[in-house]
Amino acid sequence: MPVCSCCKNDALQPGKKKKKSDAWRVFALKELQLATNNFNYDNKLGEGGFGSVYWGQLWDGSQIAVKRLKNWSTKAEMEFSVEVEVLAKVRHNNLLTLRGYCAEGQERLIVYDYMPNLSVTSHLHGQHAAECLLDWGRRMNIAVGAAEGIAYLHHHATPHIIHRDIKGSNVLLDVEFRARVSDFGFAKLMPDGATHVTTKVKGTLGYLAPEYAMLGKVSESCDVYSFGIFLLVLASGKRPIERVNPTTKRAITDWALPLAKENKFKEIADSKMKGNFLEAEVKRVVLVGLVCAQSQPEKRPTMQEVVGLLKGESKEKLEGLENHELFSADLAAGVCPSGDEDSLEVTEERDSKEEESTSTSESGVNAR
Ligand SMILES: Nc1ncnc2c1ncn2[C@@H]1O[C@H](COP(=O)(O)OP(=O)(O)OP(=O)(O)O)[C@@H](O)[C@H]1O
Ligand SMILES: [Mg+2]
Repeated sequence: MPVCSCCKNDALQPGKKKKKSDAWRVFALKELQLATNNFNYDNKLGEGGFGSVYWGQLWDGSQIAVKRLKNWSTKAEMEFSVEVEVLAKVRHNNLLTLRGYCAEGQERLIVYDYMPNLSVTSHLHGQHAAECLLDWGRRMNIAVGAAEGIAYLHHHATPHIIHRDIKGSNVLLDVEFRARVSDFGFAKLMPDGATHVTTKVKGTLGYLAPEYAMLGKVSESCDVYSFGIFLLVLASGKRPIERVNPTTKRAITDWALPLAKENKFKEIADSKMKGNFLEAEVKRVVLVGLVCAQSQPEKRPTMQEVVGLLKGESKEKLEGLENHELFSADLAAGVCPSGDEDSLEVTEERDSKEEESTSTSESGVNAR
C-alpha cells in the first residue's frame, strides 16, 4: 500500500517526538480505497450534508473515518478547502483531529481519526441508544469538553472560528468518551476584530439561532445558541424538536423552560439514567442550556463564560444563573423562536445509516 513520504520520514527518524497523527498529509485515492474496502456500504458510518462517511483501516492498523464529498461543484470546492485549511491549523483535545485529505480527479475526501464511540446522537437516538452508555458522569464531561473545544474556536484560534453546525452528531466521542467537536465544513475564518458577518444560512433543524435562521446573521452567539440546545438534548435525551401529536411539534426549550421555572430538574433528566445523576449538576447544565438558547443574542453568555458556569467555578455566578430573569415565574420571555422552522432551508439531524434505511445490516461497522 502506498505510504506518503512525509509520514515515512516521521516514522523513521529516531527521537522525533511528534506523533504520526499530529501531522496532516495528502492521501492517495488508492490508499483510501484499500482502507475502506472501496467505500463499501458495510463500512459506511453515515451520511451528512456534504456526503458519506466511511470507516477504514490504514496499512499501519490505525482506524480512520473518511468523508467522501458528494455533488462535486465549484461551491463544494470552496467548502472543501475551507474545511481542510481550518482543521489543519486548529488543534485542541476536544476538537476532532484532521489526518489529511485526498483530491484526485473528481474525488474529494477528508480523512479524520476514527472515533470508536461515534457521536452523542448515536448514543441518545441512534444505533447505541439501547446500550445506555452515557451515564451522568460522562454527559457532564462531554458538556464541559465540548464547551472547551468551541470556546477554543471562538477565543483562541487565530483567526477566530464560528462553527455554525453544532449538534449531537457533530460531537464525537473518543475511546474514553471524551468529546471531540467535529465538522468545520461550515466554518468560515473570521478576521480578528470583526463582530459578525452575514452569509447564507446553513445548519440543522432545531439547533439554529433565530437571528441566523431568519436574517442570516452569523456570530459566535449563534454557536452559543446551538450549544444551549445541545446541552438540553444531552441532559434530557429528548430531540431538539419533538412531535407531540400529529399536527404539533414542540421545541425542547418550550418544554424545558416551564419545568426549570418550577425546579423540576428530575423530570427533565433523561429517564434512561434511572435517577442516577447529581440533581445540582443536571440543574446547572439545564440552566446554562436555557440561558444560551435565549432568543436575544446579546443576552447569551460567551463560550468562555459557559465553560466557567458548567465547571461551577464561581459560586456567585451560579447564584446569578439561578436568579436569572429567564427563570422568574412572572416573566414569559421566550427562549427560542416559535417561528416556522420547517420553512427554512435546513437539514434534519440524522446520525447513523440505520436511521437512513431500516433494511441496513448491522454487520461490519457495528461489529467493531
Ligand atoms: N471521525 C468519525 N468517527 C466516527 N464517526 C464519525 C466520524 N465522522 C463522522 N462520523 C459519523 O458519521 C455520520 C455522518 O457524518 P457527517 O458529518 O457526514 O454528517 P452529520 O454530522 O450527520 O451532518 P453534517 O453534514 O451537518 O455534519 C455521523 O453520524 C457522524 O457522527
Ligand atoms: Mg458531521
